[in-house]
Amino acid sequence: MYKIVSIPGDGIGPEVVAGAVAVLQQLSRNHGFEIVIEEHPFGGASYDLHGEMLTKATLEACKQCDAVLLGAVGGPKWESLPHEHKPEAALLKIRKELGLFANLRPAKVYDALLDASSLKADVVRGTDFLVFRELTGGIYFGQPRGFDENKGWNTMVYERYEVERIARLAFEAARKRKGKLISIDKANVLEVSQFWRNVVHELHKEFQDVELSDMYVDNAAMQIVRNPKQFDVIVTGNLFGDILSDIAGMITGSLGMLPSASIGTNHALYEPIHGSAPDIAGQNKANPIATIASVAMMFEHSFCVPEIAKEIEQAIEATLADGFRTADIAAPGEKAVSTSEMTEAIVRHLGA
Ligand code: IPM
Ligand code: MG
Repeated sequence: MYKIVSIPGDGIGPEVVAGAVAVLQQLSRNHGFEIVIEEHPFGGASYDLHGEMLTKATLEACKQCDAVLLGAVGGPKWESLPHEHKPEAALLKIRKELGLFANLRPAKVYDALLDASSLKADVVRGTDFLVFRELTGGIYFGQPRGFDENKGWNTMVYERYEVERIARLAFEAARKRKGKLISIDKANVLEVSQFWRNVVHELHKEFQDVELSDMYVDNAAMQIVRNPKQFDVIVTGNLFGDILSDIAGMITGSLGMLPSASIGTNHALYEPIHGSAPDIAGQNKANPIATIASVAMMFEHSFCVPEIAKEIEQAIEATLADGFRTADIAAPGEKAVSTSEMTEAIVRHLGA
């Protein structure tokens, strides 16, 4: 039995999560395991109901389940709230409270969508790498922080254990992939980065079979758009990972298709990398693939059933090969299918 907390959230969140739930139900029928899905409010939806973006009840539920599935949070309606009530603050709080220190963001180019990339097809064809972004430390959380009338300040700090645990996961992932790990930092300027680099290299002694190299973050940004195929697994800190994973996502031409996993020692949360897209919310237009692919990551990382993860990925690829395109990935002039049509097509492939 798998106990999943679903957090549809705001904007297109409920529509794409509904797609993922349909996939979960089909898998449960196919394989005969029981799935219990408990829905909880979060973000703007929770603020409107309870005056808080993240309630104790939602947080507790997330701590009690096997995995959390999140749609998206935020929207113009809640943007002018004070900083501590903004959806971003709630997102950071849930990450910290659940101890989700590792954020995995795959950047994979689907052959069917080569032309959707902002880069030339030849440059992106075959791109398939995985970013490990540290998620509960670094400058996002370092103290002291603040601003007054004349200055603003934040602190980038990493403890040894924080670097070790994310680097360990990245080494292990590289070992299962092409055996190439690139650690990204700014060690030519920042002491915290020199420290990061030292710790990663010390840990490398346990992973001699993995090829480790370092790259400065500015160069990495350039290399990702110049030749994305050179990457296999990337490990980096919170802020650099935030920026690089957006670049990596964009060049695949399929932001609406990229999943993510945020993993800690005892908890895990899965969500599409795209946002709540308030402009198309409620119109049955959103692409559910990123959320459905997040379910695949859930089976791989939380439930440790990689075969089912594969099944989901194959159903997605088969559906794309059949020509199904939601508006975000349709070529100009091409007819787009709705969220529910895309979902149904994927579910059909799973059933077959
Ligand atoms: C992300 C987002 C968040 C981040 C924001 C919304 C707080 O950009 O998940 O990448 O910076 O981590
Ligand atoms: Mg970001």
